[in-house]
Formats: sequence, structure tokens, C-alpha cells
Amino acid sequence: MWPDSSNDPVFDMVRRETERQNTTVQLIASENFASPAVLSATGSVLTNKYSEGYPGRRYYGGNTVIDEVESIARERVAALFGADHANVQPHSGANANVAAYLAVLEAGDTVLGMSLDHGGHLTHGSPVNISGRTYRFAAYGVTPSDERIDYDQVRDLALEHRPKLIVAGATAYPRAIDPAPFRAIADEVGALFMFDAAHIAGLIAGGVHPNPVPDADIVTFTTHKTLRGPRGGAILCTENLAPAIDKALFPGLQGGPQEHAIAAKAVAFGEAATPEFADYAARIVHNSGALAEGLADEGFRMVSGGSDNHLLLVDLRAFDEGLTGKTAQEVLDRAGITLNKNTVPDDPRSPFVTSGVRIGTPATTTQGMGPEEMALIAGMIGRALRRRDDEASTAEVRSEVADLCGRFTPYPPAG
Ligand SMILES: Cc1ncc(COP(=O)(O)O)c(C=O)c1O
Repeated sequence: MWPDSSNDPVFDMVRRETERQNTTVQLIASENFASPAVLSATGSVLTNKYSEGYPGRRYYGGNTVIDEVESIARERVAALFGADHANVQPHSGANANVAAYLAVLEAGDTVLGMSLDHGGHLTHGSPVNISGRTYRFAAYGVTPSDERIDYDQVRDLALEHRPKLIVAGATAYPRAIDPAPFRAIADEVGALFMFDAAHIAGLIAGGVHPNPVPDADIVTFTTHKTLRGPRGGAILCTENLAPAIDKALFPGLQGGPQEHAIAAKAVAFGEAATPEFADYAARIVHNSGALAEGLADEGFRMVSGGSDNHLLLVDLRAFDEGLTGKTAQEVLDRAGITLNKNTVPDDPRSPFVTSGVRIGTPATTTQGMGPEEMALIAGMIGRALRRRDDEASTAEVRSEVADLCGRFTPYPPAG
């Protein structure tokens, strides 16, 4: 019926990527290991179905089962976060944010969001992103003293710019974000309040970070980071905004929903509602603290002095003034430790070079690693970077990494 693809080299690439994930340490803060159940739903025949519209209101026939799938995904995620309404169709976090903007803003409207070089996301007003090209973004940041969100500045800027929307949430911010002051400021200036929980959705679902749903008009998030689902996004909102959000996502922004991904989201939402997941979320944060301690012992400086969440922003300059994030990422890649370069607040270096790296614990925690392994990893990072010109030393760390991963293999070969 179909051509024989069993020898297609793409499958060898999939095998090699599985091996890479199994044998190297994954410290990218926005990544995780999805469960076999999530992977199975993602690879299902639901990819075949067109289902433009929403449950009960589709443009094509044959959607009885698909309606059940999307409904259970919506119900589970609304219950998980206590939201009035959920839209589970966004293909990504970026699409969730753009749809939210489309729902409540007109081109040229003013928005207040977190500055990109202090941890905000591209979709929070970057001039190269549709957000920054369509709306007028003003940006708040962190204080120079404690490197935490400057709520006084948020309020001052809100009073000055009178935004229609205030956006909280970040891509590289190691501290908990309190939604309550944002709500109060939004109320004071008559703005709507959106919380982008892309990174921390799993920490919220697991009960270790404040839930923004009661305070925010709109909450967007990705399903593939701490929440540990398939690649994708979702939007939660109050009942009064539900029609505008749904209309903005489809037909405003996207076409047919990816129901295989929505099925996998439903599975992940089910997993996130278990006591095991709450324990997982707590262990992510615990591991992040242990990794911060270990790295501090190696001479690194944590931006803001530590972490309340799943990530650390490490300023490399205290360790070695001449070491850039770019070099650190490359050296550690060779040592089998995967992380990403990242600017630190007010970084004198460009985003392509940077003075920092971002390190996250969601994936290693899924593998079952704990504080002991975090201490080992901190030591390996210190050693690999200190002796970065010595290939033998890099190879030695790589072999220790392989041993460690051999004890915590995320996807053990079948049989
Ligand atoms: C805060 C924040 N919002 C949105 C996104 C976009 O998500 P996606 O990459 O799925 O488009 C990210 C991704 O890193 C993020 O960190």
C-alpha cells in the first residue's frame, strides 16, 4: 500500500538522536523527556484527520472521536489549572501568545512586557517578532541590586504608558513570579493581564509555584517544557474572553488543529494531575537548588543568587572573565553536556556570544537524577570549562557523563 521506508536514512537519524538523548546530559531548561504514552499518542493516526473548528462545530465530517479527544484535553487542562476556558489547539507557545494578542489587541496598541535581555521571550515585543512589529511594547526588567523583577518599575511604566495589556512570564528568569502585584497594577491602569507560563506550567500544575489563573485574564503556556507533554501550546482564559480567544486562534491564526498533538496533550495533562507529578515538580526545584550550590562551589555566580524554579542563569564572568557563553556551550557540547548560551541582565556581549549560560533541571529530574547527581554534574561542568583547551580532559568528562547516563537512561532500548 505504501512505499517501503524502512531503510529511509531518516530512521537512522531518529535512532542516533535517541542515542544522543540517552547518553548525554540534557540541561536545556526548556526541554524534557516526554513519556512513552505521550510519544505514542503523538505518533498516532490522529495525524491523518482534518478537524478545523472546535468540538461540535467542525467544518469536516468524521470528527466524532476527534471531538472526544479535544474535549477531554480541554476538560483536563481546565481542571488542572482551575480555569474557566481552555483552548488546546496552539501549535506552539509562540502561536498561543500571538493568538492571545490577536484576541484582545488592535495593531498599534501598547503592551508592557518583560525586556528580552532581562529574560523575556521573543514574543514579548522583540522588534524581529510579529509582536514587536505589530504592537508598541514597553519593557520592564530586573533590579540591578537583586536581579529580581522590579515591580516598582512595572508600575511606573504602566502609569506612564497606559498599556492595554500587561504580560508577565519569562524564558530565562530563575525566580518565582508573583502574579498578584501584576494584577493590582493592571487594575490600577485598566489593563488586561496575561501570564505566559511557558516555562513553569509544570511547576504550577505540580503545586510548587503560584497559579496565575485566578489573577490573570489570559494564561498561555507550552506543553513540552516542565509540563512534559508533546511540543505545543495552550491558552486558558476567563469565560468572557473565551469567544475572542477561540476566534483568534482559529480562524484568526491557524488552520487545521494537530489532533495527534492534542491527544498527546490530553495524556500529559492526565499525567500532570497525578501525585507522582507533584513530587516530580518539587524534585525539579530541589535539583535546581542542588545544582546552584555545586556550581557556586566551582566559582560560578548565579544571577539573582540562586533559583526558585527549574533553571539557573549562570554568569560566567566570576568563574573566568574571558569565558563566553558561546565557548562554554561548545566545550560542554563536546563533553556531552547540553545547555545553551544566554545573556545575563545588562550583558555587554551580544546574544550570539553572551556572558552566561542557562541551565535547567526538568530533563535530568525526569530521568531520576537527584542532588547527588547534580553535584557530580556541577563538578563536571567546572572541570570541563576550567580545562577547556585540554581535549583529553574533555574526553574524560564525556566518558563520566556516559557512565552517569547509563545509570539513568530515559529511553532504554527495547528487550
Ligand atoms: C516564555 C516563553 N513563551 C513562549 C515561548 C514559545 O514557545 P514555542 O517555542 O513553543 O513557540 C517560549 C519558548 O521558549 C517561552 O520561553
